[in-house]
Amino acid sequence: MNQDPLAVDPAQVPSRQLASGARMPAIGLGTFGSDSVSGEAIAEAVLDAGRLGYRHFDCAAVYSNEHLIGPALKKLIASGVKREELWVTSKLWNDKHSEKDVVPTFHKTLKDLQLDYLDLYLIHWPFPNFHPPGCDVNFHDPNAKPYIHESYMKTWRQLEKLVDEGLVRHIGTSNMTVPKLKLLLRDARIRPACNEMELHPHFQQPELFEYVRAQGLEAIGYCPLGSPGRPERDRTPEDTSPTEDPVILGIAKAHGAHPAEICLKWAAQRGQTPIPFSAKRRNYMANLRAVVQDPLTDAEMTAIAKLDRNCRLIKGQVFCWKENQSWEDLWDVNGVITPA
Ligand SMILES: NC(=O)c1ccc[n+]([C@@H]2O[C@H](COP(=O)([O-])OP(=O)(O)OC[C@H]3O[C@@H](n4cnc5c(N)ncnc54)[C@H](OP(=O)(O)O)[C@@H]3O)[C@@H](O)[C@H]2O)c1
Repeated sequence: MNQDPLAVDPAQVPSRQLASGARMPAIGLGTFGSDSVSGEAIAEAVLDAGRLGYRHFDCAAVYSNEHLIGPALKKLIASGVKREELWVTSKLWNDKHSEKDVVPTFHKTLKDLQLDYLDLYLIHWPFPNFHPPGCDVNFHDPNAKPYIHESYMKTWRQLEKLVDEGLVRHIGTSNMTVPKLKLLLRDARIRPACNEMELHPHFQQPELFEYVRAQGLEAIGYCPLGSPGRPERDRTPEDTSPTEDPVILGIAKAHGAHPAEICLKWAAQRGQTPIPFSAKRRNYMANLRAVVQDPLTDAEMTAIAKLDRNCRLIKGQVFCWKENQSWEDLWDVNGVITPA
């Protein structure tokens, strides 16, 4: 194992200790190809990245590639990486929240990934709805629902059952807000271990980030590079790009690094777990090395902390439960759950 000169010793990669005592590698490989990278190419990247030192993989049923990633994980394990060294996350999609759907949907993911347990299973979004893959940003599902806490708890109870059965080591949330998490933490029998949320230098979410950490949850940061390859439907004219920020460019120059690497160093040093996507060996290896070598100085960390622009890139428009509704309603911007 790890004969390749490019390989990074997984023991050198920082990790986060969860409330359970388990350790999660503090960088993962994202597996959503933004509709432009094939599932086959992503599965190949998973296997190669695993051989080169990645241990954490962020999957989801809605990425439609778990059946391809499964064989890659199997080969990785057959090549000598122990299952217990891996951290595999998956997520329950929005059209599978109903009590009867959760367990069968989970088993489909487990079978596709060719595993007998998951390290982390997340509720992908707190809103039940259906939309066809790749649909336009203006698509509206007439049956879309707002956040209804009683319904969310019914879904959560099914996740708790999966933990009881030893099929999932940890359960968690994604795309939550402080008021929604407060209710969940009040009512959960098994607490969420992690919250997956958009996090990059232009969207630092300080209040939610601090809340998550104060509650003993780990913050997993998606779009850590500002998702430069995201689909057209997820772009608006107001969006900004952290990898083009002059401060990031200046720090990158000082480190002889790509701006993407600076975003990842910042993320890992701030205490979140970035899950950058790439299916290009040069890039995914640079990303892993970024969190192992050549840390940012305190002054650089402070300079990046000042770059927050509250620029949310993944707004979730298609998950609105009413027609012509502002996407901001999804995010409880007034500090209370937006009424139905
Ligand atoms: N929970 C959720 O709701 C949610 C939402 C969105 C995403 N996610 C997860 O988060 C992961 C990451 O998000 P993302 O893929 O949208 O955004 P991202 O990781 O911020 O950006 C990925 C893009 O950055 C480029 N890139 C990667 N490393 C690079 C490097 N070293 N130098 C230059 N460019 C580089 C990639 O291009 P190349 O392919 O050319 O390298 C790709 O286009 C997803 O794959 C998914 O697993 C979760």
